[in-house]
Amino acid sequence: MNATSALMDSIYRHQRHFYDFTRKYYLLGRDRLIAELAPPEGGIVLEIGCGTGRNLIKAAKRYPHALFYGLDISAEMLMTAHTEIKRAGLEDRVKVAQADAADFDAAALFNRAAFDRVFFSYSLSMIPDWEGALARGYAVTAEGGRLVIVDFGEQKRLPRWFRRLLTWWLTLFHVAPRAELGPALEELGSAELKPLHGDYARLAEVPRDLRSQVAT
Ligand SMILES: C[S@@+](CC[C@H](N)C(=O)[O-])C[C@H]1O[C@@H](n2cnc3c(N)ncnc32)[C@H](O)[C@@H]1O
Repeated sequence: MNATSALMDSIYRHQRHFYDFTRKYYLLGRDRLIAELAPPEGGIVLEIGCGTGRNLIKAAKRYPHALFYGLDISAEMLMTAHTEIKRAGLEDRVKVAQADAADFDAAALFNRAAFDRVFFSYSLSMIPDWEGALARGYAVTAEGGRLVIVDFGEQKRLPRWFRRLLTWWLTLFHVAPRAELGPALEELGSAELKPLHGDYARLAEVPRDLRSQVAT
């Protein structure tokens, strides 16, 4: 597809087989995001950078009245997502497709133009054009809906040695916590940014104003 998809495939080609088992110990806040998602009855939800489909499957089980969509740039990750969605018997309510978060056409991919909930879970820190992806995510959030994000924070309240170790580890995986996330969200509207576990991670929420206009 492009250089990012080749890079992501190279990172995840082997890791996708043990990704879900290992990441549960350090991608913190994902279950809280799912618990707070609360889509409306008959609502539709999009995850941008859905990886193995772990969040989509958990959310679909928790909210049986909603439909779920996911996109990811890595064909390797999507192979695992397809297998797991099928294994969970959720093919009718969870659909995934390959696309770039910063440049996708939701109507062409899923026959849907806007979603009641749109979320990014530990993907903005890996997406090179994360600001473009954020704008795109907000643009496909339905009026009255919500854009939700969980990702690494700046670990400001954690010991310096821990910050250094984590930064080294994340760099190995081409992960860059987005220090500018707060200001970028504020430009979109009344964002709420909650630090989790001493700012190890951040959970943010931006309601899509009924009258807001963002260029797509
Ligand atoms: C750390 S994983 C997170 C996966 C999943 N959201 C989770 O919480 O387990 C980051 C994901 O972002 C995807 N990604 C990176 N750049 C992307 C882009 N430009 N467009 C779409 N997905 C992208 C990667 O392929 C990977 O699956």
